[in-house]
Amino acid sequence: MPGTVASSLLLLSILVFESSAVQFDFKVAPPRVKTPSNSNNNLNNVFNVRYSTNITISGNVVTVLIDTGSTDLWVMPPQGLANFNDTGLSTTVHYGDGSTFVEGEIGVGAFSLDGGVTVPYQVFKLSHSIPSHPAYLYGTSEADFDSDLQQGLFGLLGLGFDVNGGSEIDITVRNKEGAEATWGQSVLSNIFAQNPDSSDFIGIALSRSGDQEGTADGSLTIGEYDPDYEGVQNSPKLLQTPAGSGVWGIAIDSFKVGGNQITWPSTLAAAPAGKNIVLLDTGTPNLLMPQAQINAIYSTIPGAVLTQDPNIPLGYFSESHNVWVVPCTAQINVVTTFATIRFIPSTSQTYKPSPPPDGTHKFTYCSNAITDIGLIGQGQTDALFGDSFLRNVYTAFDFGTGGPTKGTPFVQMLSTTDATKSAVDFLAVRTAVMKHAPPELNPIDLIRVFNGSLKAADAIPVSNGAPRMTFAPGIAVVLGGCLLSFGTLF
Ligand SMILES: *[C@@H]1O[C@H](CO)[C@@H](O)[C@H](O)[C@H]1NC(C)=O
Ligand SMILES: *[C@@H]1O[C@H](CO)[C@@H](O)[C@H](O)[C@H]1NC(C)=O
Ligand SMILES: *[C@@H]1O[C@H](CO)[C@@H](O)[C@H](O)[C@H]1NC(C)=O
Repeated sequence: MPGTVASSLLLLSILVFESSAVQFDFKVAPPRVKTPSNSNNNLNNVFNVRYSTNITISGNVVTVLIDTGSTDLWVMPPQGLANFNDTGLSTTVHYGDGSTFVEGEIGVGAFSLDGGVTVPYQVFKLSHSIPSHPAYLYGTSEADFDSDLQQGLFGLLGLGFDVNGGSEIDITVRNKEGAEATWGQSVLSNIFAQNPDSSDFIGIALSRSGDQEGTADGSLTIGEYDPDYEGVQNSPKLLQTPAGSGVWGIAIDSFKVGGNQITWPSTLAAAPAGKNIVLLDTGTPNLLMPQAQINAIYSTIPGAVLTQDPNIPLGYFSESHNVWVVPCTAQINVVTTFATIRFIPSTSQTYKPSPPPDGTHKFTYCSNAITDIGLIGQGQTDALFGDSFLRNVYTAFDFGTGGPTKGTPFVQMLSTTDATKSAVDFLAVRTAVMKHAPPELNPIDLIRVFNGSLKAADAIPVSNGAPRMTFAPGIAVVLGGCLLSFGTLF
């Protein structure tokens, strides 16, 4: 779709598990204590693939996804909106490659970000004390949001830019009312406009669930930092690249696997020499990169096999049938550097059911969780760094539109993951998970079972998984896995 990049939207897996294995040098923010009294925890983690918050819009409380990869706010609660100021304008907001969208009526109404009942008023001072009246979309129909709606996520709060056509609501309003009409601007622009002397930034901490770490609960703050991570202000400023792009793109200096830099020529004219541009996107669960670089990463894992077998389920957002089947306990030593900040992604997995090749046996396998960006980058980015990266950092996104930091937008990150502990946890958690999972085959055997050259009954498991179970044809499932995840480091 014109102007905007890629947001989220994928299939929520039935069961998702994520863990990370990383190494660290220093400067780790202490893990936050997960207690109901922690008033900053206003983000809810949905299986590590979606992050939601509660907002009040026109007096209606709605649980919405947060998405730094898009700009507009839309809501579509099943009970409808009790109050709605219809402007008579309608539009469609698109995501990803454009096939995911919501259409509806544009309204205006008071907005506030809910921090939960225990939140002191002043904690979310900008977003709470001064209700803004932004335009938003009241969805009447959608494509590809069914799984989110089923999860009780009844809308999406875009946290991106409304310059460069980033807001389809704003475009619609200006087309109707003239270029000077500003009331179609984003929720954030609306809030920031009321506080001209303050820097215009948001802070995001995503939590991790399903592993054994001291996990952080998530927070979204507007115009202030989560008190637990105020140190992020001292982190290097990673300037938006290219400046004025209207998306949260920043440059990475290198991407190393096993100590070796992978060859990754940027497809973007705007990329600084020798660097790549990546988009930080809370609306994407994983990491999306070009297939050639995915191959460079996964081919370093002993025993990993690339297959194009269409029977093997695709991972997140993957648009091509290139699946790396990898040993489930493999960890990848990947280091990416942003300016002086390095982070090390490693492993995680998601399980999802899919029909087995012969309908009789159940196996566990793990596949690449870094998936093919395909057409989603749309000439704006080399990669999307989604939740599996952002979970490991506290991130402040400064729009550069006001206050002392007016200028080029920038991002600051503070690591929240203890890498050494994560690496150990990964093995422990993975082992525990595998104990209760159907048996794992080595990748080549798994592929042979899928393509029919090895009978499921003859396959010899490699893991200590539960005894292989046999099901009547038609009800058995194969559990697919995705491997990867991130840590950060300075
Ligand atoms: C959002 O609201 C729902 C329903 O009232 C509630 O169950 C949930 O805990 C709230 N989430 C947060 C993060 O406050
Ligand atoms: C409708 O718009 C008016 C004017 O902006 C505002 O005061 C009122 O709160 C809005 N009502 C709803 C239900 O959004
Ligand atoms: C099945 O996959 C294996 C491993 O990749 C390959 O060697 C074999 O040729 C494939 N057989 C068929 C029938 O596709």
